[in-house]
Amino acid sequence: MVNLEDYLAHKRRIIDQSLDALLPNEDNEAALLHTAMRYSVFAGGKRIRPILAMASAEAVGGRAESVLPLAAALECIHTYSLIHDDLPAMDDDDLRRGKLTAHKVFGEAIAILAGDALLTFAFEILSSPWSVRQYRPERLLTVIRDLTDAAGPRNLVAGQAVDISSEGAEVNENTVEFIVRTKTAALIRVSLTTGALLAGGDPRQIEALGRYGELLGMAFQIRDDLLDLEGDPEKLGKAVKKDEFRGKPTYPTLLGQAETKKMMIGLLDSALEAIKPLGPEAEPLVLIGRYVGERIT
Ligand code: IPE
Ligand code: IPE
Ligand code: MG
Ligand code: MG
Ligand code: MG
Repeated sequence: MVNLEDYLAHKRRIIDQSLDALLPNEDNEAALLHTAMRYSVFAGGKRIRPILAMASAEAVGGRAESVLPLAAALECIHTYSLIHDDLPAMDDDDLRRGKLTAHKVFGEAIAILAGDALLTFAFEILSSPWSVRQYRPERLLTVIRDLTDAAGPRNLVAGQAVDISSEGAEVNENTVEFIVRTKTAALIRVSLTTGALLAGGDPRQIEALGRYGELLGMAFQIRDDLLDLEGDPEKLGKAVKKDEFRGKPTYPTLLGQAETKKMMIGLLDSALEAIKPLGPEAEPLVLIGRYVGERIT
């Protein structure tokens, strides 16, 4: 039996050590940029995407440590997306994980650049000699392509664009589904498929993990939207009077809390169903699936 808390803590330690070793040091001409990159990377993230990549590697019989370059790259892409997400031109948030957001500490220009740098750095890690030595070239190239697809103009950035432009607009469930799938589920899905691919998973295993990742990723964003609402009673009031709601459309604002919770549970059940064929090696992924439905941070 895997103890999830210990499992997550152990993986987080390995990921943090790796990120610390890889990220540029602060003692040079561009110290402010590098300090800003480190500030956001080490601001207390859960590391769920790199952990999923490592758990996926294990689920196909590989070693978690064998996908460390991928794990670090995923967290850099995720952190960039959050730094930009918090900017005044986007969600305009002053706090993240209880700490000041990057632009509040370093100013907007450096925050934008720290995001740019982290996104680029992810691909520097993956194409570094350290990474290239470890993987078959065709596998690594597929991984890089899949990551650019998940983080790029058809997925994460597309989702963020539609998310921003649908604020205050009348949108239907299809649009909300598009946003959830692209801005969040795509990166979570690719964490699993690339983790499995680098660890030598076969196409059937990778497909099952991709399906799990897609469903888990959607549930993850829906849980985030429910948490946002629970943390903001004013929004909750607005969501009840739907026609007066002028914020961002989400499943909870569209369907109400109870209906959304049911939907999230359905997604997680299907996610767990998808990885049944992987057997006991996938136990941590089963536990993470349950955790996503209950998480409070
Ligand atoms: C927050 O992601 C943004 C969403 C996609 C919901 P996480 O909840 O994984 O963020 P951290 O890194 O753990 O704070
Ligand atoms: C964030 O969505 C998704 C990405 C950064 C790609 P949210 O805007 O809902 O995330 P939080 O609530 O700020 O963490
Ligand atoms: Mg946002
Ligand atoms: Mg946000
Ligand atoms: Mg949110």
